[in-house]
Amino acid sequence: MKAVILISGNGSNLQSIIDSADRIDLQISCVISNNRSAFGLKRAESAKLQTAIIDPELYNSKEAFDRELISIIHQHRVELIVLAGYMRVLTPLFVSHYFGKILNIHPSLLPKFSGLNTHQRAIDASEKVHGVSVHFVTKELDGGPLICQDSVIIENSDTEETLSMKVLKTEHVIYPKVIHWYTQRRLILIDDKTATLDGKII
Ligand code: GRF
Repeated sequence: MKAVILISGNGSNLQSIIDSADRIDLQISCVISNNRSAFGLKRAESAKLQTAIIDPELYNSKEAFDRELISIIHQHRVELIVLAGYMRVLTPLFVSHYFGKILNIHPSLLPKFSGLNTHQRAIDASEKVHGVSVHFVTKELDGGPLICQDSVIIENSDTEETLSMKVLKTEHVIYPKVIHWYTQRRLILIDDKTATLDGKII
């Protein structure tokens, strides 16, 4: 299955997807970044993948930016859009255009800690368990139906950095696994609140 991957930064999740692409039946048609200095672009180039950069400064609205994003993605005729550390909120225009075709990974056990700085917020809230969620993207930020979660224990000694390393390690396992479910056509988004795996509501 052909996909585009959207990134903004380091791209360690992108790397885990590149490394497992053959195994999970994924063909990465293009890696698109809103940030020209994203290290993930270098990872994509090393893997000989096509890349595109969309500079937000050149667009006078979020819709105009997302229209350009749609037009680039359209050229690639993909069935899946994978958000891998993509730090822009997608407009309703984009989300409804690609309804059921967008996956995101979020570094917390949603619905806890949607938004940013999840690791520090989990530590500050004295949580004992933290983790990662993969979900379908809908109009509600970090609010689309959950597909899969994995947890890590927060030790007393954990800092934001050590916790983020632990969570990233689980991200690199869970995301290729969920993408594979999608490429096998086992995952379907029914509506804003419901998704199914193998025909059963998740
Ligand atoms: C990950 O923690 C991901 O869950 C979040 O942003 C981070 C991206 O890391 N959405 P990387 O760029 O994949 O290394």
